[in-house]
Amino acid sequence: MFSLHRKSIVMKKYFLILLSIILLFSCSKKSAIDQQLNNKVDSVLGLMTLDEKIGQMVLYASDGDITGSSIKSGLLDEIRKGNCGNILNAYTTAHTRKLQKIAVEESRLKIPLLFGYDVIHGFKTIFPISLGESCSWDLEAIEKGARIAAIESAASGVNWTFAPMVDISVEPRWGRVSEGAGEDPFLGSKIAAARVRGFQGKENDLADSLTILACVKHFAAYGAPQAGRDYNTVDMSQRVFLDTYLPPYKAAIDAGAMSIMTSFNELDGVPSTGNKYLLTDLLRGEMGFKGLVVTDYTSINEMVNHGVAENDAEAGLLAVKAGVDMDMQGEVYFKYLKKQVKDGLVDEKLIDEAVRRVLRVKFLLGLFDDPYKYCNEDQEKRLVFAPEHLETAFEVAKKSLVLLKNENQVLPLKKGDKIAVIGALAASKRDLLGSWKAYGDTMNMNSFLDEFKIYNGNTNVIYAEGCKKMGENISGFGAAIAAGRRADKIVMVIGEDAEWSGEAASRTSLQVPGVQTELLEKLKTLNKPIVVVLMNGRPLDLTRENQFADAILETWYAGTMGGKAITQVLFGEYNPSGKLTMTFPRNLGQVPIFYYQKNTGRPSYLSNPKYKSRYIDCPNDPLFPFGFGLSYTNFEYSEITLSATELVEKGELTAKVTVKNSGKYDGEEVVQLYVRDLVGSITRPVKELKGFEKVLLKAGNSKEITFKITPDMLAFHRLDMSFGTEQGDYKLYIGGNSRDVKQTSFKLK
Ligand code: NOJ
Repeated sequence: MFSLHRKSIVMKKYFLILLSIILLFSCSKKSAIDQQLNNKVDSVLGLMTLDEKIGQMVLYASDGDITGSSIKSGLLDEIRKGNCGNILNAYTTAHTRKLQKIAVEESRLKIPLLFGYDVIHGFKTIFPISLGESCSWDLEAIEKGARIAAIESAASGVNWTFAPMVDISVEPRWGRVSEGAGEDPFLGSKIAAARVRGFQGKENDLADSLTILACVKHFAAYGAPQAGRDYNTVDMSQRVFLDTYLPPYKAAIDAGAMSIMTSFNELDGVPSTGNKYLLTDLLRGEMGFKGLVVTDYTSINEMVNHGVAENDAEAGLLAVKAGVDMDMQGEVYFKYLKKQVKDGLVDEKLIDEAVRRVLRVKFLLGLFDDPYKYCNEDQEKRLVFAPEHLETAFEVAKKSLVLLKNENQVLPLKKGDKIAVIGALAASKRDLLGSWKAYGDTMNMNSFLDEFKIYNGNTNVIYAEGCKKMGENISGFGAAIAAGRRADKIVMVIGEDAEWSGEAASRTSLQVPGVQTELLEKLKTLNKPIVVVLMNGRPLDLTRENQFADAILETWYAGTMGGKAITQVLFGEYNPSGKLTMTFPRNLGQVPIFYYQKNTGRPSYLSNPKYKSRYIDCPNDPLFPFGFGLSYTNFEYSEITLSATELVEKGELTAKVTVKNSGKYDGEEVVQLYVRDLVGSITRPVKELKGFEKVLLKAGNSKEITFKITPDMLAFHRLDMSFGTEQGDYKLYIGGNSRDVKQTSFKLK
């Protein structure tokens, strides 16, 4: 026994020595590669004039029109002169090859161009909008979506995407929530990393010709504009910023993202593009970011409007000194930087550092070895809109849909039912693509109505538009009601125009626009089962729709294959498994509403009838909570079993729960783990997501799900702003959404 024990100690020792040697070897190999790369970068930098250096620090827009894509006249010449090193919105191999040829065959130093583009949720094969995709809680599916977007982009000349957008937001008025992953920092971080892996490749192999450079955006806290108005002021405590808004940017950087975009907003009075604390101290210092920092569109110039610079030249100084490497479209560096260096206002060393970062990325992408590696026409023909990409888009779209209501099991529909399909959105292809549809178009895709008819063999479907998405015109109501009367069931597709989400699309109302809900109310009087299919890019106030609809399916903008995905879910070919990643309020007055709120000193559960934190005209709780989504089957949760009731420093706990599919359909459930720190040096949220697992369970089957809890998962910025844990009592919850949970407790020692 003793010798066996000794033997295992010796083995362990050898193993550790071996591991250290391997680690040492791989570290020194890594630093040798880094050194080689730095040498290459310096060898180019050493040849550059100041003009050429500044040329690498600018990014100009092509007109982005595929049929006759051309860059603004004059700029071709700037590429030739080495004054423009990077282009956005140019795509197709033919167009990018033409521009690249000028850079590498006609400019003095032959430095290849970067081609950036907003490939947010697909390039040509369009996936569900990012908010929709996040509702799948399926990291593998999300990574695949980004991978395919990267493959199609890379095959079309694009080597840099302005994604992932990782801005946390609790502001449904803000149209850009459609581009993010919702309200939660934990889930948002996992998704941010998955998207980076998808774009840059699992191993961050940027040299691969089918990976592209990711750009994390918008740094920082762009998702919290006051009153939800895009570009508006952001003001939050440092602690909220660090604990809630920062984690997804960090996760994306840790996953290897090699570029980041500044945001339009100010934070604590300083616009991000001129914010040295953000870009240099925090990002490059504390977070160790090694990639390049690009501005958002003309955001250097906008610092004049912000009121921190008198003119563009002064704004440029703020940006370059804050750590901005590349000026998107603003022409500020182009116009003023050279003179500022000559006048001694900017140290050329700062310029060299910025250019190094740009060149480094170009080397990593392999552009110096083969500047045309993204311009392979055969590859473009073969890979863009490939059948397997469409198949994946279809799978991801199905997973993104969230069933919000299903009274009396109206869904799934049955083949053979006579169904009235109502609503302008039902027949729209364009809206399915959502905002930021990149190169996606409505050719070669079907609307929801087309797919619904195909599924039903073109029988038993009666369509009436009823009304438009917007406007007050009710002249189509009669035909819609007549259609409803002839049918067994009604499917009404309602929501927002796709352009009502995305950039510069903030709203002051969360209601379904126009007269769509009025028509729904009229249809309700027919006493037929009504299914509402929603297409929208933000949480809406669905209080009225909830009164009239028997079932509600949230479909977001589900992409190129969205019509087929929605149809299949409605007919039960796929059992819905999506869960909300943003809280749906009962009305706008509750906004901002999110599950990780604080308890307050006067929580609403107190018995005092009046003086507590509540509304006098509405409950506090949302209509649909974070993490919520139904299935055609039911899942039952056992009580939680903890491995111990105490968690010690460096120790771990396991929490187990058995989930049973007690219904008739096979289905997937997202099992969610939350904790609450009961007493802290500062107040703590009533719940925080700390883990989740999506499981597939056959009807009647059960599975034990195990979560591991370690102290580092419980760390936060404490009273003195140090980051760490605090001992004390915790609650632990597990359930299928943030409201309906089993609970237990443990102590952190
Ligand atoms: C402005 C948007 O804020 C940003 O997300 C986008 O990447 C750039 N324009 C480039 O299109």
